[in-house]
Amino acid sequence: MLSTKMLQILNDQVAKEVYASHLYLAMASWAENEGLAGIADWFYAQSEEEREHMMKFIRYINERGGHAEVPLVEKPPKDFPGVKEAFDAALDHEKMVSGAINDIAALAFDEKDFATHNWIQWFIEEQREEEDSVQGIIDKLELLGKHGLYVFDRDIMSMRGDH
Ligand SMILES: [Fe+2]
Ligand SMILES: [Fe+2]
Repeated sequence: MLSTKMLQILNDQVAKEVYASHLYLAMASWAENEGLAGIADWFYAQSEEEREHMMKFIRYINERGGHAEVPLVEKPPKDFPGVKEAFDAALDHEKMVSGAINDIAALAFDEKDFATHNWIQWFIEEQREEEDSVQGIIDKLELLGKHGLYVFDRDIMSMRGDH
């Protein structure tokens, strides 16, 4: 059985994952409108992945006797100043999520809820991979001028890990 505090923090995480999914979806739609099909696909795929994260939290909460709540989702930005800026915003968001996942692990440890502590380890690894993957894209974008963006747009899907 989850503590009241744990149930709250896990439900808060459901909301964070669904917002992440919406944010990536907004980035995908923006990139598609900019004619950047590869970058749009990367963001669409990322949006799906965040939805899977949300589902994992919902299923875990319910499995542990809590009641997972479906949250109202804040509207993400419609436009982004550029590709680099969009990925910078994605990295900032991932770092915020990593902090929230760490807080769950810390609470689980404090409460001696070792089932949750063990379960959340997958997300700790996932966040490390996502930060690394977005940082890698930002590093490459910094090497490109405008002309390089066309080639980059074609190649970005091959830069996805197998997660
Ligand atoms: Fe996530
Ligand atoms: Fe993420």
